Amino acid sequence: MNSLWARITVASLLGLASLPASAQTETGQTKIQPQRLECEFRASPQGIDATQPRLNWVLDSTAASTDVRGVKATAYQVLVSSAPELLKEDQGDLWDSGKVRSSHPLRAIYAGRPLRSWQAYCWKVRVWDQEGRPSLWSPAASWTMGLLSDHDWKNAKWIGMKAVEPTPAAGEKPSDGHPLAARQLRREFDVRGQIRSATVAFCGLGLSELYINGVKVGDEVLSPPLTEYNKRAIYVVHEVTSLLRDGRNAVGAWLGNGRYWAPRHKVPTSTRTFGPPKLRLILRIENQDGGLRYIVSDESWKVTDQGPIRANNEYDGEQYDARLELTGWAEPGYDDGAWKPVEVLPPPGEKLSARNIAPIRVIEHRRPIAKKNPKEGVYVFDMGQNLVGWCRLRVHGPAGTTVQLRHAETLQPDGMLYVANLRSARCTDHYTLKGGGIEVYEPRFTYHGFRYVEITGYPGEPAADALEACVVHDDLEPAGDFQCSNELLNRIHANCRWGIRGNYRSIPTDCPQRDERQGWLGDRAAGCHGEMQLFNVAAFYEKWLTDMADTQRPEGSVSDVCPSYWPLYNDNVTWAGTIALIPAWLREQYGDNRFIVRHYAAMRAWVEHMLGYLAHDRMPRDSYGDWCVPPEDPHLIHSKDPARKTNGELIGTAYFEHILRLMSQYAVLAGKPGDAARYTALAERMKAAFNKRFFDDAAARYDNGTQTSSLLPLSFGLAPQRRRDAVFAALVAKIEGQSKSHVGVGLIGVQHLMHVLSDHGRPDLALRIATQPDYPSWGYMANKDATTIWELWNGDTADPAMNSGNHVMLIGDLLPWLYEYLAGIRADPATPGYDRIVLKPVFVRGLDFVRAWRETMAGRITSQWSRKDGAVVWNVSVPIGGVATVYLSAKEPSKVLESDKPAAEAPGVRLLRQAKDAVVYEIGSGTYSFHIAE
Ligand code: BGC
Repeated sequence: MNSLWARITVASLLGLASLPASAQTETGQTKIQPQRLECEFRASPQGIDATQPRLNWVLDSTAASTDVRGVKATAYQVLVSSAPELLKEDQGDLWDSGKVRSSHPLRAIYAGRPLRSWQAYCWKVRVWDQEGRPSLWSPAASWTMGLLSDHDWKNAKWIGMKAVEPTPAAGEKPSDGHPLAARQLRREFDVRGQIRSATVAFCGLGLSELYINGVKVGDEVLSPPLTEYNKRAIYVVHEVTSLLRDGRNAVGAWLGNGRYWAPRHKVPTSTRTFGPPKLRLILRIENQDGGLRYIVSDESWKVTDQGPIRANNEYDGEQYDARLELTGWAEPGYDDGAWKPVEVLPPPGEKLSARNIAPIRVIEHRRPIAKKNPKEGVYVFDMGQNLVGWCRLRVHGPAGTTVQLRHAETLQPDGMLYVANLRSARCTDHYTLKGGGIEVYEPRFTYHGFRYVEITGYPGEPAADALEACVVHDDLEPAGDFQCSNELLNRIHANCRWGIRGNYRSIPTDCPQRDERQGWLGDRAAGCHGEMQLFNVAAFYEKWLTDMADTQRPEGSVSDVCPSYWPLYNDNVTWAGTIALIPAWLREQYGDNRFIVRHYAAMRAWVEHMLGYLAHDRMPRDSYGDWCVPPEDPHLIHSKDPARKTNGELIGTAYFEHILRLMSQYAVLAGKPGDAARYTALAERMKAAFNKRFFDDAAARYDNGTQTSSLLPLSFGLAPQRRRDAVFAALVAKIEGQSKSHVGVGLIGVQHLMHVLSDHGRPDLALRIATQPDYPSWGYMANKDATTIWELWNGDTADPAMNSGNHVMLIGDLLPWLYEYLAGIRADPATPGYDRIVLKPVFVRGLDFVRAWRETMAGRITSQWSRKDGAVVWNVSVPIGGVATVYLSAKEPSKVLESDKPAAEAPGVRLLRQAKDAVVYEIGSGTYSFHIAE
């Protein structure tokens, strides 16, 4: 099966529900072959709390034979039922949308009868084409609701153990960290009669795993998601009918510290802690006769902290003593006489919300590629990839032997681990054997960012299969892939993907290895747009926006780090302002105004708060500058050279002006025309003030003329029209001269570099920068054996105090440039959510071919071009239902053929106009082969 085409993609959206469905279509004279349609979701969403979920579907493009073009969907009908039997009979007892003619016929917002807690719903959809012919019904898909009101939790209490005796890790200063032993909680209960369904909802803070009758519930790890705990915690829901049995049953929960019991209190900075771990749970059992019974967390449970996980800390690792395993503890009949009654603890915060995002899972396993023995008794395994997760250890030996696993990103010249850049994080797991056979261990309540693992204390020499890496992150649907003729660029792309994956930890983290791992806002301001090319992050980023709103102080201030485990309320524009930048990307890619409407109040509160700092219509609030520009000395973290530093007020003013323009658009969508007018007027004033203060007309540059100080006004449209070309020319001179066509910017400038160069006619220069093999560049990192992206351009030489090997902030706008420019697959901002697709490939000189696909709201789009004999052949496919505006860089329409005919005469192709540097066509669904003479 060709996985690119044979699968039905279902867009996962909005934290509102990610609901699979698919549709088969019959079109025109040609009958589309019905496909065996497979749902991309590994499981239907369980326990969402969106009362108006959005339903999405994509039509199967594989079904279309290449000669069928221009199939449009013009209308849809959705049925939602309370029972599969009803749906089979085409009865939508909850919602029958009827035939809805729509300009976006591939999604609908649920508008049926109120959805109820605990209920399972199934649904299907059909569409009509432009001739008014209906498709077949899609296969059924389903979802279940979580708990919509606090009353649904009945009398479930928060339970745990108050005592917080620290168990210091080996060599630890007791003043910081206090990694508690994991708690185990249990209770037994009887089940009588035939069960129709059983569903459990629970929240175990900081981290938890649930077992019923000895079997783990669900397959997620590091659950539940991180949140601003004093405002909100997240529960998870699972259908557990098959785990219960007639008679005696047992439920058992592990509780780890996570971030609830902070991994650090003072190092490297003050870290919030919320208290000892705690659990709230409700198990709902419905009998065949309709009888209902609830098992809840209450005083009847028992707890112990004397089990095998002696200490657990996300930064330091886990200490597991297998001799202390409590065999059978989550099964009925276990003797818990030595356990204590639980204590009832206060609730963590104001709200308990459903998990509307994908869970974190073990996504793949990797075997080591090498094993070395740099010192006696020390074995270093190379996993071949800087990744995030942990190791599965296999060991056989005498009881009481302790094996130590230390993790690191790189090695020292002597082959030992390099750990200086991990700062105070120990990243070390300890496993003490119980003896008597092969033992297999994986930690539960920690994770590491690593490529190398050092084993010590192993009984004998570890075999190659003693260790296996488990790759762990949010299980997001892939949304794109890219390849081109430049191998270095392909490696850079792969490095970006690995870095991005590893930093998904229910929030986007800055890094996965050192004692930090925080959701730094500034790192993702534009980064999230790049990630949207690789993964469906709609629900993920909407959840993070909620985290931001939860951190917001009453006066509007937002922490630079969300959730605010490090409460950094600095009121700087470029980090906190991310709250107002992300919604625009989400709307563009996923086409739902509700991203904006729901978060408008929080964005507005932040903007209004920041307006208090405005002075002379300029915004002086900036904390970090153009963070991490390539420094003059390879050992430095931050440059000390004033000529490399971009004025903070320039950055703050440019970004705030841009945010005001976005806010003005948001205000219209949110139905606040007064705000819209006010923000536009303010932006105009700021634009004038920006140019007045910073623009040097004669030199066509801004302030001290750093690259970033020119990139921002070009990117945000602040530069006066009459001088744009001159400003751009000066920027290019600087890049080519001073930087020798290498990167010369930090976190801020790099968000604009690639697209500004391309938009102004120099994609060739962007390509040179993107493919430079030497310092400073992404290629330099790859050539220095990096398999992710570094925190610093000079990550191989700089001080270890701030030198992670897996940061995504310097990716900037590289990924959108690969997909939206080189492959040319874009959303049209005027019709968000790919209602109209824009195809505008850049056939840049220096590449022989580019191939990419994107899974979009319209379905899968592919674009591939290659250059041969003075012409470019561009093969593109548009999914059924899609319409695309195509821009081809040809001097005149006669230079463009499609399937050997003049393009304008080809079926399904319509010439729209001849623009200055492109011929513009419209195409509908189908597969096309354009030939463009150069
Ligand atoms: C983090 C960055 C962050 C920065 C801002 C660093 O320590 O790792 O990703 O944006 O601090 O100060």
